[in-house]
Amino acid sequence: MSNSLATTSLAQKYGAPVPRYTSYPTAPHFSKTIEGANYRSWLGALDDADTLSLYLHVPFCDRLCWFCGCHTKQTLRYDPIATYVEHLLEEIDLVAEAVGGKPKVSGVHFGGGSPSMLEPDDLKRIVARLRKSFTFCEKPEISIEIDPGDITPDRVAAMAEAGLSRASIGVQDFDEKVQEAINRPQSFELTRDVIESMREAGVHSVNLDVLYGLPHQTEATLGATIEQVVSLAPDRVALFGYAHVPWMKTHMKMIDESALADIEGRFAQAQLAAALLVEAGFERIGFDHFARPNDTMAIAAKNGRLRRNFQGYTDDPASALIGMGASAIGETAQGYVQNIVPTGLYMAAIKEGRLPIAKGFALGPEDIARRWVIERLMCDMALSKTAATEKFGKLAEAILLEAAELARNDEDGLFVADGDVFLVTEAGRPFVRVLAAHFDTYLKQGKARHSVAV
Ligand SMILES: C[S@@+](CC[C@H](N)C(=O)[O-])C[C@H]1O[C@@H](n2cnc3c(N)ncnc32)[C@H](O)[C@@H]1O
Ligand code: SF4
Repeated sequence: MSNSLATTSLAQKYGAPVPRYTSYPTAPHFSKTIEGANYRSWLGALDDADTLSLYLHVPFCDRLCWFCGCHTKQTLRYDPIATYVEHLLEEIDLVAEAVGGKPKVSGVHFGGGSPSMLEPDDLKRIVARLRKSFTFCEKPEISIEIDPGDITPDRVAAMAEAGLSRASIGVQDFDEKVQEAINRPQSFELTRDVIESMREAGVHSVNLDVLYGLPHQTEATLGATIEQVVSLAPDRVALFGYAHVPWMKTHMKMIDESALADIEGRFAQAQLAAALLVEAGFERIGFDHFARPNDTMAIAAKNGRLRRNFQGYTDDPASALIGMGASAIGETAQGYVQNIVPTGLYMAAIKEGRLPIAKGFALGPEDIARRWVIERLMCDMALSKTAATEKFGKLAEAILLEAAELARNDEDGLFVADGDVFLVTEAGRPFVRVLAAHFDTYLKQGKARHSVAV
């Protein structure tokens, strides 16, 4: 059997839908029994030894890309955003008041939607309010997700003034036919100019998001996009597989399904893009990230300090993540919470002076052990028996037996036992979500439909 036929069969065998494990348990298992009072007590338990990462969600865009799976709404007027910002400022005060001790903020991330739509004064007001309400470490990372079409000189100046250190810029694909099919026109030149202005504003790390599996994408068109991406000299590249979930996001029905590659085509695209990025000098991080060897994410990956949270892979070492804004998710030692998703209901809760929690999950001891195992597999492509036993004692024993069984039954060389460690091999890396799913005791409850694993 030729190599390409062998990999083809792997894509079919392991392409079944599974979660992306940006949390464990995953969001469909969160429950309404977790309320503001629970979260308030979790926040109150934070102390001076903790570090915080703050995530602020801005659920607005001035366009709607047909592929988009994010919590966002299109608006061509600024009024709804201005009103939302006032509520976000109030939420900052509410949350800061509930935080006990003086944990230091090591990172602030603006996500969306398109936080790049924030008017300069609003961005500065939000950062100023955060600095007033929380205690910051000396050099916090401040990052923002950027839709290049939003960028103006005064927004860049505001980002510089706010101390922006990282920027994540959406590329998706540079091919015109693909862009037309996803309703996202964006020239190479605009992207190049925005990257340049970000660097001039003091950003030391630029990430570019690229998608595979989009309508009309082929290995040839994606290869050309990757070549253009490499020429822009980003520090990191996130290569995501397009998750087509029209039952959840109805605008995805605008995408012609007959123009989407099948599972084998998607896998071939992903493999090609990964090979081109590695050839260009990027290191593979987890299953969907690439970073220059001197980038902090690559260094964290080498040192076993890579983490995975709701924003995907991160080198942010914070012990708690506080999400603010509609739909934002937070994570503390005790569990997860998600804010109310519809912006109107979110703002109504804030007006009543309530923490706007919709649902959450309180972690039990076994959840914490399984969460660690899944996170290490997703980040390190390895699971150390000694580390697991030292951390979780008896709880680890049962999980390690499951790992041994998984390795024993693996006929494809994806997951192997090697002395003290179980290793996800290079062949297994694209399927690490499927391997992680073996340790997920909630998956069988079947509460959600996921997108395909490659
Ligand atoms: C909040 S958006 C990016 C910021 C900005 N709004 C933009 O579009 O440039 C975050 C990223 O999620 C990815 N994304 C969005 N929808 C997706 C989907 N359905 N499947 C996979 N990735 C998706 C895209 O790569 C996108 O750049
Ligand atoms: S991809 Fe970005 S710009 Fe497009 S709709 Fe989604 S969040 Fe908005």
